[in-house]
This record gives sequence, structure tokens and C-alpha cells, in this order.
Amino acid sequence: MKSIANLCRTGLKSKTTAIIGAQWGDEGKGKLTDILSEHYDICARFNGGDNAGHTIVVGGNKFFFHALPSGMLNKNTLNVIGNGVVLNLNSLKKELDMLESKKVDYNGRLLISDRAHLTLQCHIEADKGQETESGKDKMIGTTQKGIGPTYATKMRRTGLRVCDLSNMDSFKEKYTTLCKSFGKTPNDYPGELEFVKQMREFLIKNKMITDTVSLMNKTLKDNKRILLEGANATLLDIDFGTYPYVTSSNTSIGGVCTGLGVPPSQIETVIGICKAYNTRVGSGPFPTECIGEDAAVGEDMGQRGHEFGVTTGRKRRVGWFDVNVLKYSHMVNGFSSINITKLDIFSPLKQLKIGVGYKKKDGTLYTGAFPASLEELGEMECIWEVLPGYLL
Ligand code: IMP
Repeated sequence: MKSIANLCRTGLKSKTTAIIGAQWGDEGKGKLTDILSEHYDICARFNGGDNAGHTIVVGGNKFFFHALPSGMLNKNTLNVIGNGVVLNLNSLKKELDMLESKKVDYNGRLLISDRAHLTLQCHIEADKGQETESGKDKMIGTTQKGIGPTYATKMRRTGLRVCDLSNMDSFKEKYTTLCKSFGKTPNDYPGELEFVKQMREFLIKNKMITDTVSLMNKTLKDNKRILLEGANATLLDIDFGTYPYVTSSNTSIGGVCTGLGVPPSQIETVIGICKAYNTRVGSGPFPTECIGEDAAVGEDMGQRGHEFGVTTGRKRRVGWFDVNVLKYSHMVNGFSSINITKLDIFSPLKQLKIGVGYKKKDGTLYTGAFPASLEELGEMECIWEVLPGYLL
């Protein structure tokens, strides 16, 4: 009985299970998705683009995924790129070539939403430009993959979608208009249209483009099981995260509904995944960051935890576990269970710290859920609980 209860809690008996990052990303979503996906008929990604970086090690082989869902290594799982994802065809091709070179057969196992937006050269160039123009102190520290500009053109209703590939004449027209909106022409991006055309043929030949919204709902009707894979994490959510130091999609549970067309009533289990400590890539406030007297231990945990970005190679900032972050994340997502990763990184430590709450500037306890204002968050002082290391 007990083991069945445990299985239910971890979602292995659920029709749908969502995997959501509970902190600022890099909690190990890819690894968990890879492990769980063999129990599901479909692994579906609902947000983000090739800004996400998942490292999966199987049989001594290391796989780096950015655009692809993390269920690709399970030969019985169908993988879906949902409408909420922004797709860079270059990254997609590179990752499929990598699978081929490692003899992983993806034939018939990848479907892409006809509603997903395409990330093109103009988006990437604009992302790089915006970051440079902002100046060092105002930089978001994006992955420079064009994610923000792609979601911006989606909202401006000038973006190009996968379904636009069905007619290359009208695609060219829309592409020209899109380039124009960035002050460019197609001539500024030599070879891009030709590459898109080749990819179009490849995707059509391999029957990869489909109406994934209908697919999701038919799968649920047929009582089959879906693993819902989130990219990035709750504190990077465009609505709930530490704005503007966030990504440009809904990384939390609402993204499942808008990014795949799965009705909220159909989401049975939500697994929140967090590290035993915290990391953050890019700029923005980080209340439990290991700085000052904790800088050396933070550096040590970062080295032993291999805390370097999969997408950009950047060194991640390291901090102690923050209870406020997790409580807030749980409030927004309604986690059914929590998966804590990287507890082993604490092994050699004589003592460790946990941020159990925040104190305001005037010394009183912060009783809100999580400050919207970064100025307010930046002024918070952490309340620490110091614990002895557990293996010494
Ligand atoms: P963008 O998603 O490239 O626009 O970057 C916006 C912010 O989200 C930056 O602070 C990035 O470092 C952060 N970010 C985006 N993807 C990831 C990720 O997979 N892990 C950690 N941080 C990420």
C-alpha cells in the first residue's frame, strides 16, 4: 500500500504529470524528465526555446538538449514541442543530427505544434543588440538566443509560426515584413530563407508538423499518459518571477494550459524540482547568494556542483536554499511533491545555511509571499538557520 501511495505522489499513476522548476532554473528538470518519461506515452514541452539547457547522461553518452524535449532518449516515448515553445530551426537540426550521430532513432517520435513561433536571425540579433545597448549594470544577462524578441513579436502579432511553412510564398512576404519591423531586409540574413526552406522539406517529409492541441486532448481522452516538461523555472516566469530579470514565457503551471492546450482540470500531478541550494544565471537580486564571508563556500559548491550554464557556459551564481522562494513557488504552482536534487554537494561541508525568511529594512519580519518590487527584494535581509554538516 505504502509504495503505491508513494508512486501516486510522484505522479507515476497520474494521467498527467508536470515538472516545474521551483527556483531560478537548472534544478535538474531534464534528468527527472528523462527518468520518468519511460512511464508516459508522451513527453510534451510547453514553454521556452533553446535558452533551456538540459544535460542527460545515458550509458556514458552525454546529450545536451536545448530545443528538444528531454524524453527523446526513451525509444517508446513520443515527444511534442508545444505551441507555447519558440523554435529555432537551427538548434533543432543540430540536436537531431547529434541524436543521429549517437545512433538514437527519432523517426516518428517527434511532433511539433503548427502554432509554435519561430525564432529567426532578426530575433537573435535584436536580443544581442538590446543587451549591449542596456549597458552592463542594466543587462538582463539573457542567453542571447532571441527568446525575448520572439515572444515580443508573438504578442505584437507579427511573428512567424510553424504553420506558415505550409506556403513559402506567403512565408517570404511575412518574413520580409518581420525583418522590416526590426529595420532590416531579408538580404541582411543571407542564407536564412534557403535554410528555412530546407527545414520545411525535412519537417514535412518526416511528418513532424501537426495540430498538437488536438493530439494532447485525444491522448487524454484515450486515457494515455502525458509528461509535461517545463523549461526555465518559476522565479524566471514573466508574470511571477523577479521581473525584469526573467525569461519571456510562463514557466510555471499556467504555461501547461496556454503552451499545450491542456485544460487545467486535466493536470493531476505537479512535481516541483529544486536544488538543495540555489543557483542563478544572469543578473537580478538573489537574497541567499553566497557573497562576503560565504563567497568561498559558494565558489566551492559551484565547482563541485558543475554550476556552469549548458547553453552559454556562464558560471552560475550560487546561494543557500531559500525557504521563501520555495513557499512562493509552491503557492503559484500547487506542487503535489518536491524533488530535491544535489544534496550530495553538502557532503564535505562542516556547516550549511538555510534562508528561512526575510527581514525588512526596518528590521521587522517580511510576511508577504514574495516582493514584486526588486528594490524591496534587494533590501531584504535573510534570516538564517545554521546547521551542522551531516556527514562529518
Ligand atoms: P532569456 O531566456 O535568454 O531571455 O534570458 C532571461 C533570463 O533567464 C536570464 O537571466 C537567463 O540567464 C535566464 N535563463 C534562461 N534560461 C535559463 C536556464 O535554462 N537556466 C537558468 N537561467 C536561464
